[in-house]
Amino acid sequence: MEAARVFDSKPNSAEARDIAFHLHSQTNPQRHAEIGPLIMARGEGVHVYDASGKRYLEAMAGLWCTSLGFSETRLKAAAAAAYDKFGFYHSFNHKTPDNTIELAEKLVEISPIPDAQAYFATSGSEATETMVKLAWVYHAVHGKPGKRKIIARDRGFHGSTIVAASMCGLPRMHREFGLPLDGFLHTHCPDAYRGTRPGESEPAFVDRLAADLEALIVDEGPDTIAAFIAEPINAGGGIVVPPKGYFAAIEAVLRRHDILVLGDEVVCGFGRTGNWFGCETVGMKPDMVALAKGITSSYFPMSAVLLGRPIREALSEMNKGGELFGHGFTNSGHPVGAAIALETLKIYHEMDVVPHVRRMGGRLRAGLEQIARDSRIVGQVRGEGLMIGVELVADLATRQAFDPALKVGAMFDALAIENGLIIRAMGDTIGFCPPLVIDEAGIDEALDLFGRTLFSAEAKLAEKRPSA
Ligand SMILES: Cc1ncc(COP(=O)(O)O)c(C=O)c1O
Repeated sequence: MEAARVFDSKPNSAEARDIAFHLHSQTNPQRHAEIGPLIMARGEGVHVYDASGKRYLEAMAGLWCTSLGFSETRLKAAAAAAYDKFGFYHSFNHKTPDNTIELAEKLVEISPIPDAQAYFATSGSEATETMVKLAWVYHAVHGKPGKRKIIARDRGFHGSTIVAASMCGLPRMHREFGLPLDGFLHTHCPDAYRGTRPGESEPAFVDRLAADLEALIVDEGPDTIAAFIAEPINAGGGIVVPPKGYFAAIEAVLRRHDILVLGDEVVCGFGRTGNWFGCETVGMKPDMVALAKGITSSYFPMSAVLLGRPIREALSEMNKGGELFGHGFTNSGHPVGAAIALETLKIYHEMDVVPHVRRMGGRLRAGLEQIARDSRIVGQVRGEGLMIGVELVADLATRQAFDPALKVGAMFDALAIENGLIIRAMGDTIGFCPPLVIDEAGIDEALDLFGRTLFSAEAKLAEKRPSA
């Protein structure tokens, strides 16, 4: 069980005011009222400090986002310099801040999609939804306005606005909200550890997923389906790396039925998986990608869509009578965000982010695998680059999951917090996604804290189930 936090419940304490006045994202409201908030006060490199001064290694980079850590002074300076010029300008009606042009150009230089343009928004949800609208435009211009449906995947995460949430494959994103909307379909998550049948090889698993996708498309009617969306590696769904050949097999089916491929690079982009973009790591060939988080190391809310030539041409065609492209967010291409993103990109290049992530990711993974060898509950260590999941199981041989009532992931999360480590428990999978600037000492500290947490979790479980 989660440890109850002791908190200051005086009516004017920060904790009590938080409970009274602040509705939290992705938090159980009742539980929050019982245990109160963990109030964070500041960050330094890969560490954060709570209001009592306790230090934590932030092994999730906040929400998979602060690639450059929590105190990068160059980003602060870039923001200050941009504010000196102006606090806001927009990109509507032919206008644009000057540095937004520069950012678009720099993104196109590293784009995994050839001959791309960059469209800016503010959040990952806006970026994934923008891709859906552009897919609809593309098909309408090609004489197929009936191609509207979107296929996403179980355990995918694409955001919290209504269409983005409809594309999620996580029950909590749908349950109370009457989602998904009609026309938002889901196919299998490519989790070979959980999804293969007894005796089924990985290639046979991939063939089955491709065949099931094709059956879904044929059943729904290929002329009704606009696009397929996927994270190269599922993040919030438990860090699921697709088996070799998965995207090639899936994309062959999609191309046969003229279905666009949308890449959600909100987490995987900007070096996270050991390449500039996750699609390069997993052999995915998207028509558009959504970017956010790492674009500014989350020092400013900014997102982008990179779209290829066919989509650009469709937009021109649609508006050839002089109409406006009827889409846009007030803060699209905000000049302060652009300045921070430009500096973030500069730092990624200077630190040579891709080989750095491969080195640090290799060290993290090797250390986790070493710890797993001494554990009776680590079923699988998986991931790429600095995005690694450790799945805890009740039985290593049969891969049997823990009884959900034990809430093993939540228990692990609470023990990690006690130990000064911030991870993300996704069910019983423990996620690591540390700032990309983490060095050897940071990795070793994370491993030490993880090892200690794991063995106290095992001891607690053994108390509950002497045979565990
Ligand atoms: C893969 C992925 N896509 C989209 C989003 C949505 O981003 P935002 O919360 O900025 O709307 C997230 C958020 O975590 C994400 O992990």
